[in-house]
Amino acid sequence: MSPLAYQTPAAPADASEFDLTEVLPTCKPLGGLLDIEYDWDRVPVPDSLKWFEKRWATRNNPLDFSGVWRFRELLPFAPDEQIVTVGEGQTMLRRSDSVAKYCGLNEGCLHLQYEGLNPSGSFKDNGMTAASTHARMVGAKLAACASTGNTSASLALYAGASGHFKCVVFVGSGKIAFGKLSQALDYGAVTLQIEGDFDDALLRVREVCRDANIYLCNSVNPFRLEGQKTIIYRILEGMNWEVPDWIVVPGGNLGNSSAFGKALIELKKLNLIDRLPRLAIINAAGANTLFRLYEHDGLRWNGGAPDEELVGKFYGEMDAENRRADTLASAIQINRPVNLYKCLRALDATDGVVREAHDPEILDAKAQVGAGGFGCEPASAASVAGIKALRAEGVIAPSDRVVGILTGHELKDPDATVNYHRGDRAFSNAPIPVANDAGAILDALKDVM
Ligand code: F0G
Repeated sequence: MSPLAYQTPAAPADASEFDLTEVLPTCKPLGGLLDIEYDWDRVPVPDSLKWFEKRWATRNNPLDFSGVWRFRELLPFAPDEQIVTVGEGQTMLRRSDSVAKYCGLNEGCLHLQYEGLNPSGSFKDNGMTAASTHARMVGAKLAACASTGNTSASLALYAGASGHFKCVVFVGSGKIAFGKLSQALDYGAVTLQIEGDFDDALLRVREVCRDANIYLCNSVNPFRLEGQKTIIYRILEGMNWEVPDWIVVPGGNLGNSSAFGKALIELKKLNLIDRLPRLAIINAAGANTLFRLYEHDGLRWNGGAPDEELVGKFYGEMDAENRRADTLASAIQINRPVNLYKCLRALDATDGVVREAHDPEILDAKAQVGAGGFGCEPASAASVAGIKALRAEGVIAPSDRVVGILTGHELKDPDATVNYHRGDRAFSNAPIPVANDAGAILDALKDVM
């Protein structure tokens, strides 16, 4: 009998099937991207999403405690006893009226999903628990990733905490936020600072992993995206299982948006939701490959046969002009998104849109999120800047129910925050120098008393 779960090329034209034990089997189309597929007719799936609520009562089981694995019926690729979990996914959906007002949405219409509350401080843990599980299933002893900082922090945490494998992380020289670098170092990852940027580091890590049989944990690994699907399940749970009108997410390597698309397509197919939300993906303007290809050049999924020549030409020009990604939102400073084609599939299924946000807009949005008392790192605030822009364009209506994903914790990049507040910006809140004297202090407090 055929297996219940298997790997298959993302391109529908290639129906090859690979066993789960194969590590990144090579396939040609769409940059070699793979999906994990399930024989849903034979996999037992609950008949409503509400069923998962019963797991709240059994949280002493680590698999039911995990915000990823308590949905394990929807990513059924691993035997329970092989699952590597550190209690990830205890994140929350929070209504935010102050940010709604900033974006031009009605009261009660904006919810923010705080993925920075994960153990390593970013959404990456949702995927890394799944990749770590697969690494364990295939007996990997060494795992690697390239990273703008969060993936490396997450992989280092799982390697350190599980003890199942060691890890090596590749970071570009220059713009890695110190919070993230400090995590990789502290958790004991071998940390290689590659001369070059993230795009260079990703090319090299793929090459090295292939040549030396090291387990690759970037989002080209399809198991990672299985874990990231659960962000969608938790959002729906936070909305009391009602589908919002929009889900807005920052776009870097496009793993999250691809995973969201897969999750939503599967939920619809399983009749667990009756309609799909629209997806909006927000690039930083200094790293806007998806925006340009999708909104300007009209690149589309096209039934699984996107115009790969157009993409090749785009990258050719980028290389000829030596265009490098450049944004203060360093997490999404990426010009060659590895999941581009899967992301097109997500946009196709959800009638999605793509926008770009400039650094000052991203940083102002970040300050508005922070002013509500729960901050985020710069890349995360691209989603809020994008919501504001889409609202101003009239694409999002004031009464639409919108969920913005905040991908990383504010303390990942305190330099960005302090520099903003020390500067002369719309929402700057600079520290006030004051003499070591009670009178002078009271004088400084005049305006707030
Ligand atoms: N937000 C944050 C905080 C991130 O760290 C990343 C990606 C993204 C958004 C973009 O997500 O790649 O799924 O589109 N960071 C990767 C890293 C590249 O190495 O940590 P994506």
